[in-house]
Amino acid sequence: MTDIAGSFGLLRLPDSIAFGDGSRAGIPGTVASLGSRALVVCDPFLATGEAFTELLEGLGNAGIAFVVDSHVVPELPVDVVEEAIDRARTANPDVIVGFGGGSALDLAKLIALGLAHGTPLNRFYGENLVPGPVLPLVAVPTTSGTGSEVTPVAVLADPDRELKVGISSPHLIPRAAVVDPRLMLGAPASVTASAGADALVHAVEAFTAQARKPAWNQQLPVFVGRNLLSSALALEAIGLIGRSLRQAVRNGNDLEARSHMAYASLLAGMAFGTAGTHLSHAIQYPVGALTHTPHGLGTGMLLPYVMQAIVGNDAGRLAEIAGALGVGSGSVEDAAQAAVDEVAAIMADIGLPQDLAGMGVTEAELPRIVELSLTVRRLVANSSLEPNEETVARIVRAAFDGDRAALAPLVAGRLSERKINK
Ligand SMILES: NC(=O)c1ccc[n+]([C@@H]2O[C@H](COP(=O)([O-])OP(=O)(O)OC[C@H]3O[C@@H](n4cnc5c(N)ncnc54)[C@H](O)[C@@H]3O)[C@@H](O)[C@H]2O)c1
Ligand SMILES: [Fe+2]
Repeated sequence: MTDIAGSFGLLRLPDSIAFGDGSRAGIPGTVASLGSRALVVCDPFLATGEAFTELLEGLGNAGIAFVVDSHVVPELPVDVVEEAIDRARTANPDVIVGFGGGSALDLAKLIALGLAHGTPLNRFYGENLVPGPVLPLVAVPTTSGTGSEVTPVAVLADPDRELKVGISSPHLIPRAAVVDPRLMLGAPASVTASAGADALVHAVEAFTAQARKPAWNQQLPVFVGRNLLSSALALEAIGLIGRSLRQAVRNGNDLEARSHMAYASLLAGMAFGTAGTHLSHAIQYPVGALTHTPHGLGTGMLLPYVMQAIVGNDAGRLAEIAGALGVGSGSVEDAAQAAVDEVAAIMADIGLPQDLAGMGVTEAELPRIVELSLTVRRLVANSSLEPNEETVARIVRAAFDGDRAALAPLVAGRLSERKINK
C-alpha cells in the first residue's frame, strides 16, 4: 500500500482544464474571461483548417478582437521566437491563444513571457528565472504528447547552445487548457507515434522519478520529483496509453483511441509538470541535437533501456506499471521485467527505431552524447539511479547496441540471468 503518511503531493495546474469532444466550443468564452484582444498562435498547417476557422468565428462572435500569428517553425530557434515577440508588441494583446502541437504551444508560452518581461529570452533559460506572471494563455493542443497545455515548460533552440534549452517556471503554466480529442484526428501517423511515445515517457518517468522530501519553507524547484498526486495521474495515463497508442497510430480516425490518448497525454503532462522527467529526456537532448529527429522519437526509443536499468533498484514501481499495462505475473521482478518488455513492444509496434544506430547515431558520437547528457543535471539527478557517468554510459551503449540484456549487470545479480524478451 502507498505510504501516504510518509509521502507528499504537489501539483501546479491551469485555473481551468476542459477535456472532451466538443469542449472546443468553450474556447471563445474562456478567452473572453481573460481578455478582449487576443493573439492567436497557430501552427501554419492547421491555420487553413476548418477547426481553426470555426475558432476564429467563435472569437469574433464573442466580441474578441484578434490577430493571428502562424509563423511556428520546428525547433523554435530563439531569433524566430524573439521576432514573433516583436510582432506581438505591435498587436498589443491582453490574452494569448495557442492552437497546435507542442511547438505552437511553446511559442505561445514564449510570446506570453516576452510580452510581460521583455527580451532577450536567454535571461530566463533554466529554472525559476521568470520574475512574475506572464500574459494569460489559453492552450489548445492538436497532438497528444507534449502535455504542454498544462506544463511549466517551453523548449527552444539557441545557436549559442549545443543543446535545446528549456525555460521552466510555474509562471509559464497556461491559465486555461482546452483538450478536444476531435482536434487530433488529422495528425499523421508519424506525429501520432512520436508524440504518443513521448506521453508514455512523461508518465513512466514521472512515476519512476526520485522521491525527495521538499523543503516546504523555501522556494521549491519547478520539478520536485515523484509524489502522491503526480503518481496517481501518471499510472492512469500509462494504462490508457498501453491500451490505445497502437490503435491511434493504426487508425487516426478512431475517436475513442484519440480520446484515450488526448486524455492520457493531459494526465501525463499534469504529472510530469511537478514530478519532472529523467534519463530518457536527458539523453534525448544530445541525440536530438545530433540527429535532428523528433523529440518523442528519441525519448520513446530510449525509454525501454532506461526502464531496464532501473529494474534492479525499483522493481516495485515497475511492477505497478505492469499492472497498469495489464501484463506480468509471478514475482515482483518478473512483473517489472514484463513492464519493460511491453513498453519496448509498444515502441516497436508503432514504428519507432529500436536503437540509437537506427536513429542515425554513430559509434564515434557516443562519448559526446554521454558527456552532454550529464550536463542536463536536473534531469539526470531526477532518476533513482546514481547520477554519474557510468550509469549514463551504460544506458547509451546498450541503446546503441540494441541490447537491453547488457543492462542486466546494473541490476541485482539474480536478474542478470533473467531472460529479456526483445
Ligand atoms: N513544453 C513542454 O512541456 C514540452 C514537452 C515535450 C515536448 N515539447 C516540445 O514540443 C515539440 C513537439 O511537439 P509535437 O510532438 O506536438 O509536434 P509539433 O508541434 O512540432 O508538430 C509536428 C507536426 O504535426 C503537425 N500537426 C500538429 N497537429 C496536427 C493535426 N491535428 N493535424 C495535422 N497535423 C498536425 C504540425 O503541423 C507539424 O508539422 C518539441 O519541440 C518538443 O521540444 C514541449
Ligand atoms: Fe518529452
